[in-house]
Amino acid sequence: MTKPRRTFAIISHPDAGKTTLTEKLLLKGGAIHLAGEVKARGDNRRARSDWMKIEQQRGISVTSSVMTFERNGIVFNLLDTPGHEDFSEDTYRTLTAVDSAIMVIDAASGIEAQTLKLFEVCRLRSVPIITFVNKVDREGRDPFELLDEVADKLALDVCPMSWPAGMGGQFEGVYDLVNNQLHQPTGDSKQYDGVTRQFTGLDDPKLAEVLSESALERLTSEGELAQGGYSGFDLEAYQNGDLTPVFFGSALKQFGVEELIEAIADYAPSPRPQPADPAPIDPASSDVTGFIFKIQANMDPQHRDRIAFMRLCSGEFKRGMKLTPSGLGKPIAIHSPILFFAQDREIADTAEPGDIIGIPNHGTLRVGDTLSEKNQVRITGLPNFAPEILRRVILRDPTKTKQLRKALDDLSEEGVVQVFYPEIGANWIIGVVGQLQLEVLVSRLEAEYKVDAYLEQAPFETARWISGDEAIVDAFANINQSALAKDRDNNLVFLARSAWDVGYQEERNPDLKFSTTRER
Ligand code: G4P
Repeated sequence: MTKPRRTFAIISHPDAGKTTLTEKLLLKGGAIHLAGEVKARGDNRRARSDWMKIEQQRGISVTSSVMTFERNGIVFNLLDTPGHEDFSEDTYRTLTAVDSAIMVIDAASGIEAQTLKLFEVCRLRSVPIITFVNKVDREGRDPFELLDEVADKLALDVCPMSWPAGMGGQFEGVYDLVNNQLHQPTGDSKQYDGVTRQFTGLDDPKLAEVLSESALERLTSEGELAQGGYSGFDLEAYQNGDLTPVFFGSALKQFGVEELIEAIADYAPSPRPQPADPAPIDPASSDVTGFIFKIQANMDPQHRDRIAFMRLCSGEFKRGMKLTPSGLGKPIAIHSPILFFAQDREIADTAEPGDIIGIPNHGTLRVGDTLSEKNQVRITGLPNFAPEILRRVILRDPTKTKQLRKALDDLSEEGVVQVFYPEIGANWIIGVVGQLQLEVLVSRLEAEYKVDAYLEQAPFETARWISGDEAIVDAFANINQSALAKDRDNNLVFLARSAWDVGYQEERNPDLKFSTTRER
């Protein structure tokens, strides 16, 4: 009997406490011994396993992209979503590889921009969300206001599972509304050290023995109102992505962390069927299939090794197995698949649906590739997004054209940028979804490919993939050649000067499809 899997991610706005929560989850899950090690980069950590040596030799840094731990017989795969302020396609794609997510919000800030964007990506795929209102040990907004904001901004039913007994200076613990337990802080640090008291309900007179008068009064009146005023927990509604259970806590002080792991264990779905063509992939199917959702290149300019991250969708993967990547057509043997733990990498002998394995390769594998034994299915729903920022790439040294082409091909394969080769004109155009990707591009061109280039404003604002009847596409292409380009896979792309331009062309060419995403 294989162990159940929970594959999930944490989504949040920067500073809400994702890193702190990750550390505490790993700590509770027994994956690391000391909180703080997720951030640690000491030599000790690096030398811990053979894989770490490989990582050092090749200069690949895959630290904390995937963190696996086991608790009470359940295997948890926690996928890291890139944490920077800027939004990249990497983030979107990582979310296609999870079955559920924890949304962390700062009790003082509520739903912030990035939380909302990430949530929308989850919603596209009905990924169920557990909400964690963090930092209740500090002054925060009124809990009701926060719940209503989640409900309104995300159009979700909310179900409070716990309630803070005061916040900030008045913080006296967190009350578990499901099990009627009060988790209390110890001493001045306000840390949760396992002090838990059982009650019969919010009306239990014994609560008065452990809470101050004002905290008790607030907790009982608010808690009762919360229980009466919101939906009860409904597993089906949660799993369909219509309801979010909400936990209040403090990652830093360890309140609510255990409850989150338990909620993921008890409520979050096991590996779900994966949308695919011609039919969704059933995780129970014995054929091995998986897809690449992320490629990470090494940070060492001397080596070109990459790690492709594959989410296994069905079947039992065995080391050495031959799988056919959809982009390649011929099978490759996977001899050194890597499993990720918080501190170590291990060569994986087997993996189950829901697991993530790392496949070292030299650029053979691409984001969006389906890997399968029989090469009969294609995972769908891993989109390329229409770039929101387009730039011309200008070479300072014109003799480096070949290197630039290679670099752009590689980096677009990795999902760092999208590249467009205009039908007319010599300068290639790159497109990104977030500003930060531009900086990453320029620095990697120089560091890894020794290509000195800069970016220049392009006369285009966005791009659309064009499809339709061949004759109609040709006719359109003839008239609009100066605005046409090919992407890396030779698909025709319309480079638009403005959003208005897109609308205008759509109106004039009703038989053509202008797509903002292209499935890979
Ligand atoms: P992020 O990954 O979402 O960006 O957030 P991160 O965990 O790095 O947390 C951002 C800041 O918020 C950190 O403080 C962290 O200590 C603090 N924090 C996280 N959870 C809690 C909590 O439950 N209560 C309180 N009071 N603070 C919390 P920092 O000073 O920016 O960084 P650091 O020097 O402490 O690492």
